[in-house]
Amino acid sequence: MQVYDVVIIGSGLAAWMTAHSLPKNKTVAMLTKQSRWSSNSMLAQGGVAAVFSKEDHWSSHYRDTMTAGCEYNNEQAVEYLVKRGPALIHELMRSGLRFDCNEHNEVLLGREGAHTCRRILHAGGDATGKALVSFLYQQAHHYVDMIEYEKVQELIVTDGRCVGVWTQNSAGELSAYYAQHVVLATGGCGALYSYTSNTPEAVGNGLSLAYRAGAELVDLEFIQFHPTLLVQNGKAVGLVSEAVRGEGAVLVNGHGERIMKGVHELEDLAPRDIVSREIYKRMTNGEQIFLSIKNVKNFTKRFPTITSLCRTHGINLEKQLIPVMPGAHFHMGGVKVNMFGETNIQRLYAVGEAACSGVHGANRLASNSLLEGLVFGELVAKRITERQDEPIIPVPFSVPFRQEVPLLPSKTYVQEMMMSHVGIVRSHSSLTRMVRLLEECLKEVEGNLLGYKHETIECIHMITAAYVIAKSALEREESRGAHFRSDFPAACPRWSKQKIIRQKEKVLAWKV
Ligand code: SIN
Repeated sequence: MQVYDVVIIGSGLAAWMTAHSLPKNKTVAMLTKQSRWSSNSMLAQGGVAAVFSKEDHWSSHYRDTMTAGCEYNNEQAVEYLVKRGPALIHELMRSGLRFDCNEHNEVLLGREGAHTCRRILHAGGDATGKALVSFLYQQAHHYVDMIEYEKVQELIVTDGRCVGVWTQNSAGELSAYYAQHVVLATGGCGALYSYTSNTPEAVGNGLSLAYRAGAELVDLEFIQFHPTLLVQNGKAVGLVSEAVRGEGAVLVNGHGERIMKGVHELEDLAPRDIVSREIYKRMTNGEQIFLSIKNVKNFTKRFPTITSLCRTHGINLEKQLIPVMPGAHFHMGGVKVNMFGETNIQRLYAVGEAACSGVHGANRLASNSLLEGLVFGELVAKRITERQDEPIIPVPFSVPFRQEVPLLPSKTYVQEMMMSHVGIVRSHSSLTRMVRLLEECLKEVEGNLLGYKHETIECIHMITAAYVIAKSALEREESRGAHFRSDFPAACPRWSKQKIIRQKEKVLAWKV
């Protein structure tokens, strides 16, 4: 039995910020189902939004965040985010974090969709997430036991308190990690969809782990689809940052006609849901859509990651046209938390994309997610630090004898169904069909997941995450932000309240 002060599940930016902000005398284990470098944060190209210029003000960042979120955001969380963000970034810069600067050593500020001011900080051009994670890793890894390829199967919850996790390593061996505090920093769920900017591991494990343990989930229907994923042979193969449009690129069809003119006053920098739906509509009608980069100065220097992505996939940048399509990018909903990342289960926390404090509302403002990871990672660590230790009573480890493997659909099938039934445009009939299908699959699963093979457990977590998202989307009978229902095309004030999903059915519940 292994006992720590804090177990953090995940190894992205929010995980490292939490670890970095904890007192150095705490024992910390970081468990990750892949390598330590595999996370959505490592792929983040866009940057960090923060008020740095004299012309800008926190109230303007606040307003842009609320407008993008369709006024559905938690106002207290937004105000804290935009006020604490710049001060925290200055502190990290004083410890050695470097952002891209001009020749006078002033931080360069980029612009992205729905921001009324230049306020996006970048590092390594379009490799900001990687730069931030690497920096925090350098600061904190000496104090952390990093356990890679360790898959969390279940949270251990007794008497309403989370006391640890059960895991399986790549050799199939089971372990229990006990802790005073357990932090879900498991990232997003974009890989539940066949077209995504996310790493293939991002299938919503945090949602499933939390839900199965009895934690509340909220706003799950709000999945942001990024308008511009690079397309090769009809498949999405990576992200082409919105910063490219911020530097002057425009969306065109095969005849070179601009597609966002007349659709929204911000044209190519309109909110992502609007741009994604326009591209989706046109692609459904057989059009091919491109980003024209004719007006972007020094493209290859400014966007080295995207340049290399395009070259790897045989896109000739001399033609100045990059083929694009929309795909799942970011989850605004997640495990329901307060400002300090606390869930309804004592000593279970969630942070980063796995969590939902309501800071993003119904649609996230570009480049607010790395900021969220920093600001709320710090707050989770603060709350953990304030708490007194309590004795941990180990829970007997019982592995059920599994005679039969549940009959479950393949990962590809779930991804295709999520794309077509719970995707950019949803309807009552598509969502009902998906909920029923997933409910039937989950009836095959009994009790805790110990004793199943890793592939089966991963599939159950994936189906559970898909199920709670589809169910939430079915329950929200309106269109708001990233959630678009063709049968309820308008927003409806009556429905603006939060949709909390609680574990009620016998199917997914399990008890220690
Ligand atoms: C992008 O670079 O377009 C993505 C950035 C973000 O989602 O914040």
